[in-house]
Amino acid sequence: MKVISSQLDIDRRRSLKEDGFVVLRNAVPPNILRKARKLISELMPTRERRLLAPPELATDPRILNLFYGGNVDKVLSDLMGPYPPVISCQVAVTPAHDNLADTVGVHIDGGWSGELPRSTKEINPKTHRPKDPVKYFGIDDQKRGSNDGLLWMDPDRRISTGSYTALVGVCLSDQSVPGNGQFGVMKGLHEDVEAFFQRQRDAESIIGPEGQGWPRIQIDSSGRPFANGLPDDIRLIGAQLKESNPVIPNWVWRELTPVLMEPGDAVIALHSLPHTATPNMGPDPRINVYFRVRRLREANPHEGSRRIGHGVSDHPDRGYFGQFLDYPDSYDPWQTSIEKLCDHWSEWDGMAGEI
Ligand SMILES: [Fe+2]
Repeated sequence: MKVISSQLDIDRRRSLKEDGFVVLRNAVPPNILRKARKLISELMPTRERRLLAPPELATDPRILNLFYGGNVDKVLSDLMGPYPPVISCQVAVTPAHDNLADTVGVHIDGGWSGELPRSTKEINPKTHRPKDPVKYFGIDDQKRGSNDGLLWMDPDRRISTGSYTALVGVCLSDQSVPGNGQFGVMKGLHEDVEAFFQRQRDAESIIGPEGQGWPRIQIDSSGRPFANGLPDDIRLIGAQLKESNPVIPNWVWRELTPVLMEPGDAVIALHSLPHTATPNMGPDPRINVYFRVRRLREANPHEGSRRIGHGVSDHPDRGYFGQFLDYPDSYDPWQTSIEKLCDHWSEWDGMAGEI
C-alpha cells in the first residue's frame, strides 16, 4: 500500500501537467540537508561559480541522500514509475552577489555548449556552425562541451539533443525571495517544446540543434555567437511571456517564472521545460542540487550501468564521457528517445488519465 505522503494530490498533479513543474514542500528532512550542506561547503568553494562539482562530491551518499533520504524518490516513483538507481548529481552553486556575467541563458537540457568563435565572420551562415568546425567541435564533432554536453547522440547524426524524463532540484539555501538565484522557468512551454520536436520529426529533420528551426549557433544582441539552447519558435513564444506574465518586484526577467523555494523543498520539472539559473543578488550563495532522472527503458541493456552517470547525465544514450555504447539490433536507443521527446507524458505512469 502506498504511503499517502508519497503521492501528489490532484491539484499539484494538475500544476505539473499545466506548468511543466511542481514544488514539493519539505521534501528533505533537516538533518539530511545539514550534512549535505556541510559537505558542499567543505569540498566546493561557494565564492566562485563552477558548472561541475568534484566527482567525489556528486557521488557521495550524503549528497545522494537528498534524493533518497526524504520524499523525493517516493514521489517521483509514484509520478513516473521505475527508473535506474541515481548515482550522481549536479551540485549547482551561484555565489552571493553574482550576476552570472549578465547572461540569462534559457535552454532545454541536452545541448552542447563550449568555446565558439568570437566573430560572426567565422560562422557559416547556412549551417550555423563554425567555418572551422574541427577547431571548436573536434574531429568528427567528438569534443565534449564545457558543460559535459555532446554534439550528437548517435553516430548517424539523427539526434543532436540529449534527453531524460525529470529534472529534480533540491533547494539548500533560502530562495523564497525573487532575485536570490532562483531556478527560472518558461512556465507552461513544455508542451510547445514537445510540439516543436514533433514538427522536426514529421519533417524528417535532425531532432535538436542543426535540425529544422533550431540553428546550432545564434548571434546575440552584441553580435557575439553563442550556443543556442532554444529553437527559434520557442524563443518567440518565450518573448511573448514578457508581456503576459505577472510583474514581480525585483524580478526583471518577466518571461521567466522564479521557482520560489526554502531549504528542503524540491522542484520537479519536465525535461522539456525551458529553464535557466538566474543571477543571485542576495548576500548568501545559492545552492541547489539537481538530479536528472530518466524513466526505466526495459529493453535497454545499459540501464543501471555506472557508465551512464544516471542522475547527472543529460545524454544517457551515450556514456557520460561521450562513449558510444553497443546496442543490440533489437533496440534503437535514439529512435526511442525521439519517440519520448515527441510524447513526453508517456514516461509518466502516474500522470495518465483524467488529470
Ligand atoms: Fe539546464
